[in-house]
Amino acid sequence: MIVKDSDNIYTECNIFLIGFMGSGKTTIANYLKETYDMDMVEMDSVISAQEGMSISDIFALHGEEYFRGLETRLLEDIQKKHGVAVSCGGGVPMREVNVKAMKKNGRVIFLQASPKTIYDRVKDSHDRPLLEGNKNVAYISELLEKRKEKYEAAADIFVETDGKEVSEIGEEIMQKLLVLEKK
Ligand code: S3P
Repeated sequence: MIVKDSDNIYTECNIFLIGFMGSGKTTIANYLKETYDMDMVEMDSVISAQEGMSISDIFALHGEEYFRGLETRLLEDIQKKHGVAVSCGGGVPMREVNVKAMKKNGRVIFLQASPKTIYDRVKDSHDRPLLEGNKNVAYISELLEKRKEKYEAAADIFVETDGKEVSEIGEEIMQKLLVLEKK
């Protein structure tokens, strides 16, 4: 799945980055795209473009279940590709069917971040309907705790992101993927 020569590591499987809103999934997916010449999919952006409206408007107009259905459909499409770094929406691993789709031809990386780090990263954004009116460390901490079990169950690899540089996180992912492939 992962090809390595003396200087470079190339990945042929898909890499699914999961984790809470604001855990750095899109930043890391972009790093993998630039550094390893992978394709990159940011799920929220694709869904938003497909529907012709923001994520907040999709939630407001059609409801959360409709949005979750779009996520599942998009994952099924991604399954047909390879070498894609996917920035998943924070709710993706909550559905078993999504976890199965990711695992079919990909490795799942859980980007861990503390509630305070997450808060600092999301506090100025307004396109996360689940956080509107709830943007505080206590709420983030509570929702993270509720979701943690599912994130952990879905993950092949865990990466702590607090206080680390983007490149450091990206390289840690690639090294851990190599170790996984050797097993
Ligand atoms: C959600 C996370 C968001 C987006 C939607 C719901 C969630 O994506 O899909 O607002 O349930 O955690 P990001 O994790 O990219 O912010």
